[in-house]
Amino acid sequence: MRVIQAIAEMQRQSDEWRRRGLRVVLVPTMGYLHEGHLSLMRLGRRAGDRLVASIFVNPAQFAPGEDYEKYPRDPERDLRLCEETGVDAAFLPSAEEMYPPGYQTYVDVSEVSRPLCGASRPVFFRGVATVVCKLFHMVKPHAAVFGEKDYQQLLTVRRMVRDLDMDVEVLGHPLVREEDGLAMSSRNVYLSAERRAKALRLSQALDRAEALVKGGERGAGAVLEEVARVLGPDDEMRVDYAEIRDTENLETVHRLEGPVLLALAAFVGDVRLIDNRVLTPSPSPA
Ligand code: PAJ
Repeated sequence: MRVIQAIAEMQRQSDEWRRRGLRVVLVPTMGYLHEGHLSLMRLGRRAGDRLVASIFVNPAQFAPGEDYEKYPRDPERDLRLCEETGVDAAFLPSAEEMYPPGYQTYVDVSEVSRPLCGASRPVFFRGVATVVCKLFHMVKPHAAVFGEKDYQQLLTVRRMVRDLDMDVEVLGHPLVREEDGLAMSSRNVYLSAERRAKALRLSQALDRAEALVKGGERGAGAVLEEVARVLGPDDEMRVDYAEIRDTENLETVHRLEGPVLLALAAFVGDVRLIDNRVLTPSPSPA
């Protein structure tokens, strides 16, 4: 496996692969890799001839006061996992080269990035879209893989690619969970055992909502009431949002007539966790 830090070196490597007719796939990450990331990489391997994993904790997507400085980092372990997973090149650009002094160009995907996480983290998707656009220019992939754990991020990237005519195929990968249901996240290491148990309420709320909808419930309000009941009032847990939205444009949905997105975000202590599920109503009896 090659370990590449310089942007020009990454571009040269990718040009060389492309000249040979090889299909290049990128999996962008912020590192501190877990099984969710590795599943994306395994999909990436199957989807092309050369696999690049980028590891870059992107300062542009953190607001002041968020966890940029203390975001977990372990590049040595990450590189070992990349190698074991069949990555051809691990790309670790520096923040200085990514955003040199005088940097001033940003990508703003204006609608799909506004609600949900965009409402509570106003600079977040601008930072994500900008860095993903830059990574696409550095790695020049034919395809890139994103997880459905960050459903709104996946929609934002798809919209950017369409709107800016980027010649990159965007592949989605299903959300990967721990055995007990907790959505895998690099931030889970922040959780004490007690708070981790509370965090489980997120996936439990999704399970309950899914059961209700399977049982015939069609009212978004009724589903959200049940979600709020499972999440419960709690000193250590503050719900940021719990919403039912259209799976494509993220507009608010009141009645379930087809698949919808149930999206949750909550602070458990000071750790912000997200989870989601697409709920598909069973066909109404004739
Ligand atoms: P990060 O949180 O490291 O996630 C990298 C990729 O892994 C994203 O596409 C994310 O959706 C996916 N992922 C993380 N946990 C997952 C899980 N439990 N199941 C499935 N996929 C999962 O998302 C980012 O980094 C950044 O915003 C990035 C896109 C790299 C831009 O900086």
